[in-house]
Order: sequence, then C-alpha cells, then structure tokens
Amino acid sequence: MIIGGSASQALAAEVARELDDKLCSVETRKFPDGERYFRIKDEIPEDEPVIVIQSTGYPQDENMMELFFILDILGDMNVTDITLVSPYLGYSRQERRFKEVECISAKAIAKLIQTMGVKRVISINLHEQSICDLYDIPVDNLSAMPAIAAYIRENYSDKKPVILAPDKGAENFAKEIARILNTDYDYLEKVRLSPEKVKTKTKSITVDNRSVIIVDDIISTGGTIVNAIDILKRQGAKAVDVVCVHPVLVNDAILKINAAGANSVTGTNTLKSEVAHISVAKTIANHLKSL
Ligand code: R5P
Repeated sequence: MIIGGSASQALAAEVARELDDKLCSVETRKFPDGERYFRIKDEIPEDEPVIVIQSTGYPQDENMMELFFILDILGDMNVTDITLVSPYLGYSRQERRFKEVECISAKAIAKLIQTMGVKRVISINLHEQSICDLYDIPVDNLSAMPAIAAYIRENYSDKKPVILAPDKGAENFAKEIARILNTDYDYLEKVRLSPEKVKTKTKSITVDNRSVIIVDDIISTGGTIVNAIDILKRQGAKAVDVVCVHPVLVNDAILKINAAGANSVTGTNTLKSEVAHISVAKTIANHLKSL
C-alpha cells in the first residue's frame, strides 16, 4: 500500500504504477485558518507493509506536520511496517551545529520520524550523507544522477556536453553523470590570485566553444548557478543548460537563471515545480523492489 502526502501525490501514483501496488485513497485539505487535515479512506490490514511518500519542502512545516499526521493515523491503525520515502527531506541543511546551542534541526526531525514508528527512510541526494547517521534506523540515500543522465541523453542535441559542478561539493554529481554519458566533467574552483583577488574558473578543462550542462543538488535562490553561468559565458561556453535534483527555486530564481543566459533549467520531481520534468519514480521503485 502506497500513501502519498499532498506534497508528493503525483509521484506516489507513479511509484505505485511502477510497483503495481495499490495507491491508498486519502482526503487532504486545509482548514480556513491554514491547519491541515488528513484522512485515510482505505482499509489497511495491520500486517500490510506501507510506504508513505511525502517530500517536506516548502511549506516545510505544513508538509512535515502532515507527514506526522499520516504516521499517527497508521499508528492508530496498528500498522507497524512503515517505510518513509521523503525524496526531498526538509531541514537537512542544519545537520550539525555551526554555532553553539543551535538546534540541529535535521536531528530533531530524525527523532520525531523514528518516534512515530517509521522503520526505514528513503531519500534522494540528501544534502549531506552524514544525515543518515542521525537515525538509528536504515536510511537509504539514493542518487538521481542516473535519471538525470538519461534525461540529458534523450533531450539534448549535443551528445558530448561538459557536465559541470558549480563547486567542489557538487563534483561527484557531475562525475557520475559524465561517467554514464561518457563525456567530460569538471567543477569551478576559486583560485586566489593575490591577497585581495579571487578568480573562479574551471578546474581542469576549457569550456571554450563547448556546450555545458551545470548540475547541482539544490537550486534555492539561484545565486550559485547565476555565478557559474557568468563565469562559463566569459570563458566562451557556447551554450549553458542547468539541471538539478531538488528545484527549491525560491522567489524569482528561474528568472534570474534565465536572465543570466541559461538555455533551460530542469529539475526532478522530488519537489513540485514547473521545471520538474525528470521523474525519480523509477529510481524509488527499483530501490523498493531490491529491498
Ligand atoms: C550547496 O550546498 C548546494 O549544493 C547548492 O549549491 C546551494 O544550495 C544552492 O543555493 P543557491 O541556489 O541559493 O545558490
């Protein structure tokens, strides 16, 4: 039985189709004051394994609260075999203490999820692998890169683009896609030219007259990508496209990226977005089948 929270209902339906599993019928709405309501309309036998699919991106608190409502109902139904698939797991950026006595939000979320009876968590490209260590239950951190690589292969005319990470932290994403597509990859690095001057440039290859696809896990404000596009254009890239796993896209991020000169911006459907054209349903379904 698959239950889709309101942040991930379309994705849940796709995963159910891939697995040939039943998609639970639910009722979800908001009260006039903004509070959420959730009802499970199907019978679920106590011994039935249940997969709850709910991303917890914006509005994070509401989606998180709705997730806890779903888990609470399952507890009331005495369902014990619960797997949570949260393709975008909110509050993951505060996974450690940067200043004294800060709340490690990702740890607080982990505690709540476990307290509410979840036996396994599955997510996609967690902000940091170390988030898995905040849980006492198995956490599977899946990669969306094979799905992104397949999308690039099918939709981009240049079959040998440079796959570029906007910083060292995203290098592994670029590397994984480039390996699948058998093409080049690189990342942008900051080089200090003098005590006052820093230059950002591609680490090892030249992008002059080449098509470049920038890849990152998250695009939030778009600042990182706009900066990368500026540098690539100055270095003579003939075309720049952008792909990401989680299209958070705060405010006018897409406009800013387009204005910087990107041909396209595409993300996966870990979050609902107008640019979410790459589905992670197969990635999730294949992993669930393998368990
Ligand atoms: C950073 O750790 C992430 O990989 C992204 O590069 C970052 O979240 C992008 O943020 P923004 O779009 O606000 O520059």
